[in-house]
Amino acid sequence: MNAPLIDPFARAITYLRVSVTDRCDFRCVYCMSENMTFLPKKELLSLEELDRLCTNFVDLGVQKLRITGGEPLVRKGIMTFFNSMTRHLDAGTLKELTLTTNGSQLERYAADLYAAGVRRVNVSLDTLDDQKFADITRWGRLPQVLRGIDAAQNAGLRVKINAVALKGFNEAELPSMTAWCADRGIDLTWIEVMPMGDLGNEDRLGQYWSLKDVRRAYEDHYTVTDLAENTGGPARYVRLEETGQKIGFITPLSHNFCESCNRVRITCTGEIYMCLGQEDVADLRAPLRNHPEDDAPLKDAIRAAISLKPKGHDFDYSRQKLDGQMPRHMSHTGG
Ligand code: GTP
Ligand code: 5AD
Ligand code: SF4
Repeated sequence: MNAPLIDPFARAITYLRVSVTDRCDFRCVYCMSENMTFLPKKELLSLEELDRLCTNFVDLGVQKLRITGGEPLVRKGIMTFFNSMTRHLDAGTLKELTLTTNGSQLERYAADLYAAGVRRVNVSLDTLDDQKFADITRWGRLPQVLRGIDAAQNAGLRVKINAVALKGFNEAELPSMTAWCADRGIDLTWIEVMPMGDLGNEDRLGQYWSLKDVRRAYEDHYTVTDLAENTGGPARYVRLEETGQKIGFITPLSHNFCESCNRVRITCTGEIYMCLGQEDVADLRAPLRNHPEDDAPLKDAIRAAISLKPKGHDFDYSRQKLDGQMPRHMSHTGG
């Protein structure tokens, strides 16, 4: 029996986020720059290597596996990987297999994902306005994503929308997005914008819309009840009594949640990032590739990495500066 993964702050690591590609068919302004250079294919972990890596994490007590990118569904052959993870669900060792997606490929993959044991998808969608959607994603088209969401729901997948809260961008859409989600039985989670990547002309401080204010905006129009339940992720949830729907709040800036962190991230090249908001990183590709028949060095490397997990991020806008800013793009670790 393998001992579970416990970090230096006594947090059990049970949630693994795996980025399977650095590529994406969109270029969201807060996530990527317009001219991204992507990695050559040989740098990427193969689907077999991804399987072996995830399987070792499951051996070490990971119960929740979230596939991310870039956009995970643009990775060639990705269903082979999802299908291979189904065995861990069947064995009961993995409790949840899921993904975070921009929704562009869901029309094609929703039924296959459900067949692989996925029951829930998080779709990133910051606006329901065609023009604003095209502006923020640079390359995306809203109707394609809406068809993807329909396909996901028709396939039996529960959909949660992730919206980055952006002042002056989607502020006015709070009522309409909330109503749209309520009509479709979709949960909606708001995320505070974090200072990641090359900001170009972006004014992060100016865009920051604290979720304390978002909550107040809800309280002006609804009866808001705090919920104790969680999904194993960072969101705290409330219920809007008038509609019965759940609203999530991910508040790295206004209410740090690092104390209960249960996760680490793998990039598509096999790096492990111990924290979204810190540089601490270790390489798992070498122990994977150098010891094809022996998992012990890989497990040792995973344990060594977890022993370096920092206490939390240093993002802080309170001095009207982007303290704790990360040069790394969000797409590098998949959020
Ligand atoms: P659920 O399983 O539905 O709870 O999903 P999740 O919130 O764990 O995953 P999702 O990919 O939907 O996360 C949404 C966003 O929340 C991410 O893209 C990040 O922007 C942010 N986020 C998730 N985990 C962390 C974290 O550990 N630290 C920080 N600072 N932000 C996080
Ligand atoms: N701050 C907060 N959330 C972000 N995301 C991407 N970049 C940022 C950022 N700078 C979110 C996306 C998506 C998830 C993968 O990460 O909207 O929901
Ligand atoms: Fe965990 Fe780091 Fe996110 Fe905090 S910022 S919740 S420590 S990954």
